Amino acid sequence: MEKFNPRKNKIVEKQGPKLWLAISPTLVFYFLYLFQINQFVTYLLFSDKATLNILLKAKQEGTDTCAGRYIYMHNLPSRFNDDLIKNCEAYIELRNKCNFLVNSGFGPRISNDDHNQTTQFLTTETGSWYSTNQFMLEVIFREKMRHYGCLTNDSSLSSAVFVPFYAGFDVRLFWGYNVKQRDELGEDLARWLSGRPEWRRMYGRDHFFVAGRVGRDFRRLSDQDSDWGNKLLRLPEFENMTMLSIETNSWSNEFAVPYPSYFHPKSEIDVKRWQRQVRMKQRRFLFSFVGAPRPNLKESIRGEVISQCLASQGKCKFLNCETNKYCGDPVKVMDVFQDSVFCLQPPGDTPTRRSTFDSILAGCIPVFFNRDSVYNQYKWFFPKDHTKYSVYISEEDVKIGKVSIENLLIMISEERILSMRNEVEKIIPKIIYTKPKVVGPDKIEDAFEIAMARVLERVSLFKMPRI
Ligand SMILES: *[C@@H]1O[C@H](CO)[C@@H](O)[C@H](O)[C@H]1NC(C)=O
Ligand SMILES: *[C@@H]1O[C@H](CO)[C@@H](O)[C@H](O)[C@H]1NC(C)=O
Ligand SMILES: *[C@@H]1O[C@H](CO)[C@@H](O)[C@H](O)[C@H]1NC(C)=O
Repeated sequence: MEKFNPRKNKIVEKQGPKLWLAISPTLVFYFLYLFQINQFVTYLLFSDKATLNILLKAKQEGTDTCAGRYIYMHNLPSRFNDDLIKNCEAYIELRNKCNFLVNSGFGPRISNDDHNQTTQFLTTETGSWYSTNQFMLEVIFREKMRHYGCLTNDSSLSSAVFVPFYAGFDVRLFWGYNVKQRDELGEDLARWLSGRPEWRRMYGRDHFFVAGRVGRDFRRLSDQDSDWGNKLLRLPEFENMTMLSIETNSWSNEFAVPYPSYFHPKSEIDVKRWQRQVRMKQRRFLFSFVGAPRPNLKESIRGEVISQCLASQGKCKFLNCETNKYCGDPVKVMDVFQDSVFCLQPPGDTPTRRSTFDSILAGCIPVFFNRDSVYNQYKWFFPKDHTKYSVYISEEDVKIGKVSIENLLIMISEERILSMRNEVEKIIPKIIYTKPKVVGPDKIEDAFEIAMARVLERVSLFKMPRI
């Protein structure tokens, strides 16, 4: 008030009556304001406490940034998760891989001391790089969920329910097991979940879980022992739930999320710095392929891809994973991808590859040969228009020898390359899994956060009244 009057008076003196016209509405508002205060005091004195509480609650809800985003995590008996990794060395497929479970499932940290050749990415980003195994998503997600900003212990408050089942580790037990044994744990979990009070709310429509393996492992076609996988997703309870996995082939209640790569930063600054490095990198090779041939897969185009790469007279770098022990070394693999403009991603045993995510991370423009490699899979994470960030060459054309990969890539203008790499760079934060404990303004909208938002959105659609 003290500030208000003198200033206005001064202006009035200077400007004369013309300004009164402008000031009078201000005064009207001022009196209205006083009147409101008066009303509010009356309200405080005479209204009943219950009304006030309702108002207070509404105010709290208005400022609750977690409203509609609360997730409840089931406290499962350990047979559904921890027990499955306890004797990890005993599994054929996990032998020598147990150390990948450390650091929230990111695996051992990569340090400069382990390498004679000092690589650029390690010198600038120490502490963000890990030797991550491609099948660790169940462990990573559970750790990330433990630190999810809107986790609640009150299931009545939650919009979705997370089931921290290590579905993929269960599959690792299958070698030599009959179908009955393979289905046992899933059936056990279905019984456990449907007996819980949380189940009755939406009969599982608000439940979700993560599988660090490809979807087909959980959709066995028949009940013959010779058929691969279990029938988890054919169980009525699991048909009602949402599954996130590294590759889907059903597109009903299954959604694909990125394979975990090697970069797990803690802050936005780390990501920005890495993006800048990717942008500035000089790349010696026009294209590259890191992988192994598939001589036993008649349909595979890998043989053709490799022979075209080898015939390119230095324009293509081939890291042969059949004979080269460095394929399991993140530093060597990232070095090749960082040195290439395009990275070939032909399908392997299944259409998707972990390598796709490693190469995008390195700012290498992916070349796909199958729409199921990315376009039909990771829709939550990639731009709709795939020509913006990738090159597509039909698998058929390669198979019949109709296309020269080198000639096709060399025709792409420098301008288009820059624009595509720019898009690839923008995808990087969306496909990484950042350190679990990052909260506050430094938090990155990473693959986990995007997936959570989409799951919540999906559950909310089930809650809408049917017309
Ligand atoms: C580093 O160099 C030494 C000696 O040249 C060699 O024995 C060792 O195997 C190398 N280590 C790696 C990780 O390449
Ligand atoms: C849930 O309860 C546990 C044990 O009582 C506690 O440690 C944890 O912090 C709680 N979490 C939340 C999000 O309230
Ligand atoms: C799955 O959901 C439907 C309704 O959406 C419900 O009728 C059915 O009982 C549920 N299945 C199980 C096993 O709870």
